[in-house]
Amino acid sequence: MMHTVILEGRGDAGEWREAARALLLGGIEPRLVDWQVPRDLGPGLFEPQQEPFKALPEASPSRQPTVPRAFLTLAESVLCHSDPGRFALLYRLLWRLQQNRDLLSIKADGDVAEAFAMEKSVRRDSHKMKAFVRFKEIEGEGSRRRFVAWFEPDHHIVARTAPFFQRRFNDMDWLILTPKGSAAWDGRQLQVSLEPAGKPDIMDATDDLWRTYFTHIFNPARLKVRAMQSEMPKKYWKNLPEAELIPGLIASAETRVRSMLKEAASQPPVRHERRQAIAFEAPEGEGALSSLAHEASACTRCPLHAHATQTVFGEGKEEAEIMFIGEQPGDREDIAGRPFVGPAGQIFDRALMQAGIDRSRAYVTNAVKHFKYEPRGKRRIHKRPDSGEIAHCRWWLQKELEVVRPKVIVALGATAVEGLLGDRTAYQKLKGQAIALNEETVLIVTIHPSYLLRLPDEAARAREAEGFEAMVRLAGDRLAGVGLG
Ligand code: URA
Repeated sequence: MMHTVILEGRGDAGEWREAARALLLGGIEPRLVDWQVPRDLGPGLFEPQQEPFKALPEASPSRQPTVPRAFLTLAESVLCHSDPGRFALLYRLLWRLQQNRDLLSIKADGDVAEAFAMEKSVRRDSHKMKAFVRFKEIEGEGSRRRFVAWFEPDHHIVARTAPFFQRRFNDMDWLILTPKGSAAWDGRQLQVSLEPAGKPDIMDATDDLWRTYFTHIFNPARLKVRAMQSEMPKKYWKNLPEAELIPGLIASAETRVRSMLKEAASQPPVRHERRQAIAFEAPEGEGALSSLAHEASACTRCPLHAHATQTVFGEGKEEAEIMFIGEQPGDREDIAGRPFVGPAGQIFDRALMQAGIDRSRAYVTNAVKHFKYEPRGKRRIHKRPDSGEIAHCRWWLQKELEVVRPKVIVALGATAVEGLLGDRTAYQKLKGQAIALNEETVLIVTIHPSYLLRLPDEAARAREAEGFEAMVRLAGDRLAGVGLG
């Protein structure tokens, strides 16, 4: 007998999970289940011909199905896809996982491949929403400014993407309307509705701002029409005020490149251009840190961005319990785009190893995210960031701290301490100490590893190295002390 399951199908994972669990407990094979969402049914078909599926009585504990965590994560994304086949696909996978728990690692399997393709499409749609939502200001009461945006996602991604807008546009009231639900923020509460919304009729001066911005960031020398259309697909153009400029900018690109070449002496290095292009790509991962890193890749809060190859953001997982903060990326880090990979990084890695700290479980970052240097011939000589630059970059460091919430923070050198505490003189007072910042967080202050590279006297170097390694060991012990070993 066929079993019909009717779902809302608006990206709420709970409704599918409940039905799938009951079906699985009832031993009902995937081929006997007809998954439907009301909008997929034709007129008059809202009443299913068969009895809708009813949850079965609780099964005995010995029959409780289990699934790998990775499947639940995958299912949450796939359920946001708009393909009506997603429910059946996931139930097939769930069924097959009972026989083979490693099924998801078989990437050539048709069902597995389809699910991962759907997950990727959902992720991409979410990135597009982050990039292409255009707020328009509307009249508001009180002191807060109010904005509305209209967006047309492919999938049911409003709920999963809304927290990004809450973080990014925290200090204004906004409402994002889409045919697949809406999200609103009023400074206190994020509200999400899965009900389809209608397109608001609003036009305003912010459109002109977007056009001006787009004209400025458009670089004719880097014009790749296909890549541009894949990053900003045509289907989004109708809701982007700047999109009407694109044909004209493309048409005039060649002439503009020729005039730019005439002024070639003032062009930034090619490597800089290449790295800057990365800033316009969608972020890789889904989490808050990937979004932050992506935002930071286009940071122009201080002038250092102009000469650095790229932003070197922190590296590590959101769950990291220990955070190391250095000064700023060096020459090697600036090119690699990763912190502590050059000579200072080698000293750092060795100290970590000796202390039994796994770098992949730590979060490693810098107080300043761009390389500051002075060109000397072909070499770029490191220059210490000043208080203004450190203060501008504190914004990013605070965001990293808010997301990672480490239990142990190790500040490597004076700039790290200034970035953390906003006090240029604190380092001298705190060096060599472990200070409880609050009940949960301890701050350990030690020298920067590159200080060891600069010390000419061997005995002094050995002494300082010992002190540095002891402080890193102390950080490792603190980590173990909070049960995170
Ligand atoms: N020095 C730092 O402070 N950070 C790095 O990433 C590299 C060298």
